Amino acid sequence: MTRRHSRIAGTGSFLPPRRVSNEELAAQLAERGVQTSDSWIVERTGIHARHFVDDGVMASDLALAAAQAALQAAGLTADAIDLIVVATSTPDMVFPSTAAIVQRKLGVAGCPAFDVQAVCTGFVYALTVADAMLANGSASRALVIGTEVFSRLLDFDDRGTCVLFGDGAGAVVLETSGEPGILATDLNADGSYADILCVPGHVAGGGILGKPLLKMDGRAVFKLAVNVLGQTARTVLDKAGLAPSDIDWLVPHQANIRIMQSTARKLHLSMDKVLVTVGEHGNTSAASIPLALDQGVRDGRIRPGHIVLLEGVGGGFTWGSVLFRA
Ligand code: UT7
Repeated sequence: MTRRHSRIAGTGSFLPPRRVSNEELAAQLAERGVQTSDSWIVERTGIHARHFVDDGVMASDLALAAAQAALQAAGLTADAIDLIVVATSTPDMVFPSTAAIVQRKLGVAGCPAFDVQAVCTGFVYALTVADAMLANGSASRALVIGTEVFSRLLDFDDRGTCVLFGDGAGAVVLETSGEPGILATDLNADGSYADILCVPGHVAGGGILGKPLLKMDGRAVFKLAVNVLGQTARTVLDKAGLAPSDIDWLVPHQANIRIMQSTARKLHLSMDKVLVTVGEHGNTSAASIPLALDQGVRDGRIRPGHIVLLEGVGGGFTWGSVLFRA
């Protein structure tokens, strides 16, 4: 049986309007006795600013705006969609899924809608699952969204983590196609590293047990990330029969410029081929890849026919890639 293919028909993204510069954040942290500086943050991470939501704004609100932009780019309305997959670690509620809430906000009903939880690799997981469902005929037009309000998970007494993350959402419309589209995918997880990046809390009996704030062993995550990103890139390139030199754009998870530079070096890619948004977005977890992708499409850098490699890495520990022809 010939496999059906899928292609990205439109991209969209949304950043909450409140931009918080390093200087602003450092001043706020100083009031709590936490010392940091613009120069430390820029030098160690490449981050200059991040966006934070205001009170009451939920992951589904950001997702809705990104989804509407992606639908518009694809020339479609929401009733054309027959699958909604949302990647998030900051869902509106314990249940129902944020995908179901987005479906309601889009004013449609009936199609399957569910969340995927793979932290910063979430969008790569969600896109892979949607591609597989399109390939096996379960759906023909999917909305795949990464959305996060990570500011709500941050421990503002921990300078090693609270300066790194931001809020936002990105989305794509994925549709069946005669030609690929998505060329190869690769997903991985190793739960033995669950503790190096986690939010160790859960709901119990009307309260929260544990501390529902982000905790990270930054050095351990850094080392693992650099290793696995090289591996997963090779895996998808091999599956597609392509070489690193065939890549027009690398769109990596936006956690730290030094991780991206190291990945590019391993693939012998110039940084001119790497889409970098971490400077203005910070790390938006599952939203970071579709946010960067949308920026690259909208500013004309990613053009039809380009070979694009998306790479994610994050809590779980999880990592993976999607290689596609734009
Ligand atoms: O999205 C999931 C993936 N997450 C990641 O990819 C994160 C991976 N890790 C990293 O990006 C880096 O490890 C960090 C940016 C988190 C930290 O950078 P680092 O170069 O590994 O710094 P470090 O943790 O080794 O800390 C170096 C020093 C320490 O001081 P001492 O012990 O040398 O005196 C820290 O206390 O920097 C200090 N430090 C800070 N100083 C000013 C840590 N955070 C800050 C801060 N401002 N915000």
